[in-house]
Amino acid sequence: MSTIKNAKFIKEAFDFGTVVPVFRKVIWLDKKINKATLFCSALGYYEAYLNSQRVGKFIFAPGWTTYGKRLQYQEYDVTSLMEECNVLEIAVGNGMRFHKNRHENYESITCNDSALIAAVKIEYADGTEDFIPTDSTWECAKSNILDSSVYNGETVDFTFNTDETFPVKELDDINKDILIATEGEEVREMARLDALKLITTPKGETVIDFGQNLTGYVEWVVPQRKGSEFTISHAEILDKDGNFYTENLRSAKAQVHITSDGNERVYKPHFSFMGFRYIKLEGFKKNEIDLDNFKAVVVFSNMKRTGYFACGNDLIQQLYENIVWGQRGNFLDVPTDCPQRDERLGWTGDAQVFARTASTTYRTDKFFKKWLNDLAADQHEDGGIPHVCPDLAWDSYGSSAWADAIVIVPYWVYRTYGNNQIIKDNFEAMKKWILFMESKGSQRGLFDTHDHHFGDWLSLDAGDEATGGLTDKFLIGTAFLAYSNSLFIEMGKAIGEDMSYFEELYDLTVKKYREKYLNTGKTEHETQTANVLALYFNLTDKPEREAEKLVKDIESCGHLKTGFVGTPYLLHTLTKIGRTDLAYKLLFKKDFPSWLFPVTKGATTMWERWDGMKEDGSFATPEMNSFNHYAYGSVGDWLYTTVAGIDSDFNDPAYKHIIFRPLPSKELGYAKARILTENGEIISSWEYTGNGDECKFSFTIPNGSHATLYLDDEEYEFDSGTYNTVFEYKGF
Ligand code: BGC
Repeated sequence: MSTIKNAKFIKEAFDFGTVVPVFRKVIWLDKKINKATLFCSALGYYEAYLNSQRVGKFIFAPGWTTYGKRLQYQEYDVTSLMEECNVLEIAVGNGMRFHKNRHENYESITCNDSALIAAVKIEYADGTEDFIPTDSTWECAKSNILDSSVYNGETVDFTFNTDETFPVKELDDINKDILIATEGEEVREMARLDALKLITTPKGETVIDFGQNLTGYVEWVVPQRKGSEFTISHAEILDKDGNFYTENLRSAKAQVHITSDGNERVYKPHFSFMGFRYIKLEGFKKNEIDLDNFKAVVVFSNMKRTGYFACGNDLIQQLYENIVWGQRGNFLDVPTDCPQRDERLGWTGDAQVFARTASTTYRTDKFFKKWLNDLAADQHEDGGIPHVCPDLAWDSYGSSAWADAIVIVPYWVYRTYGNNQIIKDNFEAMKKWILFMESKGSQRGLFDTHDHHFGDWLSLDAGDEATGGLTDKFLIGTAFLAYSNSLFIEMGKAIGEDMSYFEELYDLTVKKYREKYLNTGKTEHETQTANVLALYFNLTDKPEREAEKLVKDIESCGHLKTGFVGTPYLLHTLTKIGRTDLAYKLLFKKDFPSWLFPVTKGATTMWERWDGMKEDGSFATPEMNSFNHYAYGSVGDWLYTTVAGIDSDFNDPAYKHIIFRPLPSKELGYAKARILTENGEIISSWEYTGNGDECKFSFTIPNGSHATLYLDDEEYEFDSGTYNTVFEYKGF
């Protein structure tokens, strides 16, 4: 049987410079067909057209994987596009295969050449078949895309039109075993937003505000002025004077340059995306700017929305919306750190931190399956996990809390959706990572000799400029050895593995952790994050002691100081120690540092830093200041599980057993969450009524699920159905 592997990788035979090549094949049909299928993949991104019709809806196909090892291909039914004479054209852009940022070593990602591989399979009505693979019989032309890159944007000259064709060459040295059928979700155009406002900035710049920081591109009508050039730049934010601000994009130009050919053209980038809320227009005459001619196209992985949260406080509601937008902006085939600057990489730590919230808000199992397969493929021989995936082959790897993504992400995917295949698929990789940690200790049970850790990234306890935080990195390492191993043990047991070796290692790790890191009096062992980890990961034998320290620390300074490592567990920990009142205080806090501070500054997405913008409107260092970074959005899972009170149960996953544990706050007034599961919709809501002392609760449990409700120290069991109760609720 012919498959795409029977085709050849091809590329233009002559160097086109930066011009995007279009590969072409003419296919004549002389008899009736039943079905035509296009198989397609590329090293780079491709866009396929059959008889000038775009094939499929996958943006930035074939997706981004560890190209040297795994390359997705797509299969499209193109029967309805076929005519008697068919022109198949496939443009191939650089994609993430080749991009350059300020670090030279980002320049090429595991393969240097762009290439196309494709085939058309035609099944005729008479039972015969044709197979037309890419090979040296295809030809190639220069497109009008003169330059295109993910970070920098695109240059298109509509006056550039050529009939000249060039030969292609076959690339025989690319291993075709790397080709795999699509595993992830297709990236799609998911929404279009109107342009809201036209602004002239104090500097005199002409700027459009879309009202929402987002990831994607602008679709716009190019004015019909032959030979004229138009430039659109993208920015996430205006500076404190109201001027267009792009310094935080670092070297990413994020610009499109278009030359009009005098015809009305609707343009949107082919192989580039931007993280933006504002665009700056250059080259336009005043009468050529009509807001209706500009639409922001929101692009992300086509996941099903499954989680919703609403509450009685506008700022917290906006925080929640920002969390959702953080996911939309960064679940673009790969879970990325940010969508705007010259980075946009699959940072493992960020994905790990946000995986639980993300998997409640959207259905992520397919999305993460693909990425985890890449992560496992990128795992080092010694078990170390790269900092980013797809891997850039850095010398440094295996940072705790980052590398632990290989354990923590499958854990949440399984707990949320219940298919144990995700455990089976990643079991060996998880095991190798636990053994890696075990092997890097001054004594067995400690993970304290491997010095590649990011620490409590961007926490506030080590001074303004320090990124790694104050918490001892080896304390974090050993804490995550215990925590990841505990999740690994649960997962191993769930698929019937003997986990006794790891149970013994776990007990030893907890013992060593207590000896080395608990109650030492050292400041780097007494941070908010250190106490959070000790409590949340069950590492302490004297929880009252660490609880007291944590509470004292928060109460004495009046705010959180945690970074990427401690923040996801902070409010959960306060709830665990019976201080949900303090958790709400942190949640409601509006001034810096807090979750709501960015909201009060007009944020529409999550910021990378607590102080991305300072109180006075100035910005943190442009070297690292993204306004669309989802990590601190991990507070979303406290909103779902504790404010609204819907949680899953690892032992009866996919919400077959629902845990309702709402902890209402009078100040919030009401809260409601809905989670769509395979069994149906779960709802939990509460509302303070009357004089404000009564709280009305409502719970919906879908068919096939059952629930345990914890309320005011009581426990109730429910089968499917809807239940309404009014309580003199005592509260937390
Ligand atoms: C990224 C982070 C990432 C970090 C590693 C940054 O450049 O944006 O989100 O986790 O590096 O410490």
